[in-house]
Amino acid sequence: MLGSRRSDLTAEFVNQSGNASERACGWVAWLTALMSLVSAVLLPASSAAVADHAHNGPNNQVSITSVEGESWLNHLHRDFGDTSMGKTGRLGPGPDEPAADLHAESTQPFSHSPVTLHGQDLYRLNCRGCHGEFGQGAPPEIASLINPVRATSSRLIMQRVKASGMEMSRKQADELAQQSMASLLQRLHQGGQDMPSFSQLNDDEIRALLAYLKQLAGVPGAEREQITVRESPERVGELITKATCHTCHTAAGLNPTSKQLMEGAIPPLSTLTARTNMSGLVRKVTQGAAVTMGAQPMLAAGRMPVFDYLSESEAADVYDYLMRYPPRQTSVVDPTGAASTDAALAAANQAASTQRASADQKAVMIVAWTSGLFIAIVLTAGVRITFKEFARLSAESDAAFAANGAARFPTHATDPAEPELACVSAADEEPQEGEAADWKRRASA
Ligand code: HEC
Ligand code: HEC
Repeated sequence: MLGSRRSDLTAEFVNQSGNASERACGWVAWLTALMSLVSAVLLPASSAAVADHAHNGPNNQVSITSVEGESWLNHLHRDFGDTSMGKTGRLGPGPDEPAADLHAESTQPFSHSPVTLHGQDLYRLNCRGCHGEFGQGAPPEIASLINPVRATSSRLIMQRVKASGMEMSRKQADELAQQSMASLLQRLHQGGQDMPSFSQLNDDEIRALLAYLKQLAGVPGAEREQITVRESPERVGELITKATCHTCHTAAGLNPTSKQLMEGAIPPLSTLTARTNMSGLVRKVTQGAAVTMGAQPMLAAGRMPVFDYLSESEAADVYDYLMRYPPRQTSVVDPTGAASTDAALAAANQAASTQRASADQKAVMIVAWTSGLFIAIVLTAGVRITFKEFARLSAESDAAFAANGAARFPTHATDPAEPELACVSAADEEPQEGEAADWKRRASA
């Protein structure tokens, strides 16, 4: 009789304290979940900030990736006939004209040794296909890049302002120049409305390219700031392919028939190494070559422009790159894209970057500390509530027991196997012990 009464009460005790700690646990769990969500959002940002700063170091590693996704013209839904992009204004020889001799195969086999590129070369490999030799573009479709580059020079800004009879402080001019530089870098990393992004360029390449752009735009003193980069042949091939060939050629897909070629199909980059060998590709790119097309296949001059500003070995680099890094169908978003954008921005403006870097770190630290403090407060409060509830309930049941003249219950709350407590005890040891002692004291009083 007494035994059953006792187990009833025990059940009731466990039940009630279960409810109380469930409430507390639920509350804590809810807030913990909320904080995890907040940190999930904040932590990647902070690690991106750290990656950003790490990226500024002297080691500027080049990681070569396959070319991916549809051609830039397809992406823009622009017809081959309605664009100046990738058009050099030169076409290859017709079917009757004899093809010139090529050195690529006979005297100049493909070389694997690194090459030195000047900013001018980077411009040639990356920008010239659309912006032309002098940066003039093909307005209105392709804007000239000269003025946006001139706007990155405070000296030219001040000159221009003075010429129009107005005044501007050096500081104001510097600010404007910095803004122009930031938007130029943003364009390179994210692209423009109709211009592809150049996120594949690393900081050193960007620095060399910018120095040449300034020279091209006639910024005073730019000639003395030219720098070079060392590149592997694969890298050269990658840059040409992504910036120039990918304008018209989609990365991967089916090899078109000669009938489809006649109807305007452009063979995907993934098919080029099957359609032709290295010297065939070199010839097509540097001098132009007739292609077989039509329902009744015959040789025709074709529509692909000639890139006579690319050397034979550079065209061979494209072939080699396509062989080693087979083009891929889908485009995957580069998770490090954002970080390298910031890194390049920083590279061009080191002083501002250092300030921003420490500001970033400060912000990250503040957020981390605030979150930590908040979690600690929440957990402490949760534990307190749980123990208050235990204390109250146990006092009640003790009173009930005393009324029945029964012995004291074993102390459930200090039992480490107690599931309700396990929910919070792991999170905060300190207050639990204090509270437990407190509770024991009060319970036995
Ligand atoms: C596939 C063609 C293409 C390539 C390659 C290309 N651009 Fe552009 N660029 C454009 C087009 C189109 C515009 C104008 C529309 C727009 O802003 O998107 C443009 C605009 C610009 C402008 C802005 C002009 C203005 O008035 O604001 C700059 C600067 C520029 N390009 C720089 C570059 C640099 C540097 C490179 C090489 C790293 C490059 N572009 C490569 C197509 C290209
Ligand atoms: C302005 C658009 C355009 C650009 C840019 C372009 N191509 Fe082409 N390409 C074509 C077209 C169109 C064809 C189809 C054949 C033709 O009309 O000449 C073609 C065909 C080819 C072929 C196939 C030749 C054959 O005999 O089957 C090769 C190889 C090739 N391109 C390589 C390249 C490489 C490498 C680049 C970058 C350096 C490049 N193309 C850039 C438009 C372009």
